[in-house]
Amino acid sequence: MKKFLGSNKLKTAVFISGTGSNLKSLIKFSLKKKSPIKINFIISSSSKANGLKYAIKFKIKRKIFDYKNKQKDEDLILKQLKKKDIGLICLAGYMKILSNNFIKFNGIILNIHPSLLPNYKGLNTHERVIQNKEKFSGCTVHFVSSKLDSGKIVLQKKVRVNKTDTPKKLSKKILKQEHILYPQAIMKLFANL
Ligand code: GRF
Repeated sequence: MKKFLGSNKLKTAVFISGTGSNLKSLIKFSLKKKSPIKINFIISSSSKANGLKYAIKFKIKRKIFDYKNKQKDEDLILKQLKKKDIGLICLAGYMKILSNNFIKFNGIILNIHPSLLPNYKGLNTHERVIQNKEKFSGCTVHFVSSKLDSGKIVLQKKVRVNKTDTPKKLSKKILKQEHILYPQAIMKLFANL
């Protein structure tokens, strides 16, 4: 990790599949002077991902891999990351599961998940949280490991679930916190080096 530090910012790739609101917040964060990262590359699993508009707006190189041939695409992605000297991958709503081979990537891979891990791994977290009448939910930034949503936790934020919350309302509330948490988690990682 240390080899990426110094006066240069850590070259970062963000992987998306959809709206890209976390991507947007990470780009904004990366442009701040205090930020230790620079976003050099965006990978999307879909050409229709709305988040690609931020790649265009902020003139960041982007590539789409649809995973029709997962191994081939992962190999191509790894090659691109190496060529661009990427040291950090931020998964932000990326709907593909990375293979064990991919996560041997020579750098850090982080993910953001909309629950208080280790609770509610996987999909449809807000629906399940509301169904179980939880008083709190939240979001978690964690290292990516070979098991889904199970890597070491970097940072979490708790969010209260109101009785009137629908999955949509809760998702909106948590997403707002995600946009604060992801940059904070990256700052924390660097502070601990
Ligand atoms: C977020 O809730 C994130 O935690 C989850 O997928 C959603 C992505 O949202 N992994 P966005 O594309 O960043 O707006």
